[in-house]
Amino acid sequence: MNKRVEEAINEQIEKEAMSSQFYLAMASWAENNGLNGTAKFMYSHSDEERFHMLKLVKFVNERGGKAIIPATGKPQKEFKDLVNVFELLLAHEIMVTESINNLVDICLQEKDYSTHNFIQWYVSEQLEEEALARTVLDKLKLIGGDKGGMYMFDRDLENSAIQLAPAMTSGSSI
Ligand code: FEO
Repeated sequence: MNKRVEEAINEQIEKEAMSSQFYLAMASWAENNGLNGTAKFMYSHSDEERFHMLKLVKFVNERGGKAIIPATGKPQKEFKDLVNVFELLLAHEIMVTESINNLVDICLQEKDYSTHNFIQWYVSEQLEEEALARTVLDKLKLIGGDKGGMYMFDRDLENSAIQLAPAMTSGSSI
C-alpha cells in the first residue's frame, strides 16, 4: 500500500489505542467514585475505541502494509469531577477528528481512493461521537453542582440509550 498513507494510518492506530486507554482510565475513576452509570458508559466507549483501532490494523495488513501495535503512555488517572471528565473526552474527540481529517487529506493527495472510501466510516463516526459528548456535557452543565441531579444523571447514563455509543449500534463489523 502507499507508504505515506500506511504511516498516517499507523499514527491513527496509536491515537485510537490512546483513546481506548484514556476512556478506560475514566471508567476506572468513575467506578471508584460510585458513578456506576458513567463507568459503564466509559467501559463501553473504551471497547469501541479498541474496535476502531482493530479495524485499522486489519485494513493495513489486508492491503499488504504492516500495522504497528503501539505502546501507549499511562493515561491521566485523577479527574476533578464529571464535567472535567466529559470536557476532556470532547477535547480528545476533537483532536481525533482533526487527525481523521488529515488522513482524508493525505488519501486525496496520494490518490488512494479506496482508503479514502474506507476512512469515510471514521468521518461519520467522529461526527456522532462529538455530538454525543456535547449532548452529555450540556446535560451536566444544566445540572450544575446539584447532587440529586448528578445522581439522576449517572442513573440515566446507566439505563438510557445514551450509553449505547453510536458505533456499537450501527452494525459495523471489522
Ligand atoms: Fe475512535 Fe473516538 O475516536
